[in-house]
Amino acid sequence: MKKILITGGAGFIGSHVVREFVNKYPDYTIINLDALTYAGNLENLRDIEDKPNYIFIKADITDAKQIRSIFQEYQPDGVIHLAAESHVDRSITDPTAFVMTNVIGTVNLLNAAKEIWSDATGSAQGFAGKRFHHVSTDEVYGTLGETGLFTETTSYDPHSPYSASKASSDHFVRAYYDTYGLPVVITNCSNNYGPNHFPEKLIPLCIHNILNNKPLPIYGNGKYTRDWLYVIDHARAIDLVFHKGKDGEAYNVGGFNEWQNIDLVKELCKQMDEKLDRPAGTAAKLITFVKDRPGHDLRYAIDATKINQELGYEPSVTFEEGLSITIDWYLTNQEWLDNVTSGDYQQYYEKQYQG
Ligand code: NAD
Ligand code: TYD
Repeated sequence: MKKILITGGAGFIGSHVVREFVNKYPDYTIINLDALTYAGNLENLRDIEDKPNYIFIKADITDAKQIRSIFQEYQPDGVIHLAAESHVDRSITDPTAFVMTNVIGTVNLLNAAKEIWSDATGSAQGFAGKRFHHVSTDEVYGTLGETGLFTETTSYDPHSPYSASKASSDHFVRAYYDTYGLPVVITNCSNNYGPNHFPEKLIPLCIHNILNNKPLPIYGNGKYTRDWLYVIDHARAIDLVFHKGKDGEAYNVGGFNEWQNIDLVKELCKQMDEKLDRPAGTAAKLITFVKDRPGHDLRYAIDATKINQELGYEPSVTFEEGLSITIDWYLTNQEWLDNVTSGDYQQYYEKQYQG
């Protein structure tokens, strides 16, 4: 039986990865390690929390001693590391939190994995069959102009404190492969969207605001471009790379799906009007151009050729389909959105796990 420790499993992407692994691999034990920051919500995992192959541990990856003792106790065979501070705007107001979790936290996990895996035989031989999968972002590559795509060999050029902290963590992961032979893989994915996305990010924020007739804030001129992937397609890519990727390699993950922010919000407004049975153009009236984000990267776009050709990966849904599923999820889970916006979700852990 394999034990896989997934960090950040109560967050947006992590919860989809945990569900995918718990349901698809009943013979694995899936350990979800999460500090339950503002972004962690165990309600995301209500449907699988009673499964016999699922364990939740509340722990903070910045606490080296605690992480070391969890690794000693549970002896995971694999790590999928998603825990992070993930919002660019928050990184502009509090960069240190990003250094602590994204850089120091990652190094703490690398050290703990290296320690227990080399312990098995007293040498790097114990690394056989083990895997440390670091989940990263396309934002480490910086910004593109009007043309071109990020490949795995594009030089790192981060601009925000968030992307700088993720770039730094990627460098440490590579350094542990080069220096100690730790069996690592890295995935650099484009912007995700889908169910359980925290409503501080563009798509869920706009869904929430349309439902509540509030302004839809578009930074700057709205011409910034992002490459969007449905979150479950990201979880599928992680599953594939975790099991089939080559040690020491990085894989870009994306769906060749670029949208300028303004066009994306207009598409969202159109679908929301239809689904809410409101006259066409109702939601779009809420679009409001606001002050730009400092250091705002113009364009991200992923070349996902490597993961497609080497591992046969392809996204399963088009953007229009994924967006429609996402809006439907928010419309049928307004309680989730209300709990998140009111802060009530933060009591779920106390109720479920502390009696
Ligand atoms: P998220 O903010 O929704 O979730 C992060 C999770 O990590 C939360 O559950 C939080 O409680 C946990 N966490 C934060 N600090 C922690 C700490 N110190 N110790 C333990 N747990 C902690 O993030 P997300 O959007 O799901 O992103 C997950 C990962 O994927 C991140 O590493 C992010 O950089 C990467 N990523 C995100 C996107 C995206 O579009 N959201 C795209 C590419 C890559
Ligand atoms: P976001 O969802 O924060 O993801 P990231 O910054 O990681 O790409 O933002 C996506 C894009 O939308 C980005 O160009 C910033 C822009 N944006 C707005 O225009 N208004 C908003 O209120 C937010 C949150 C983002």
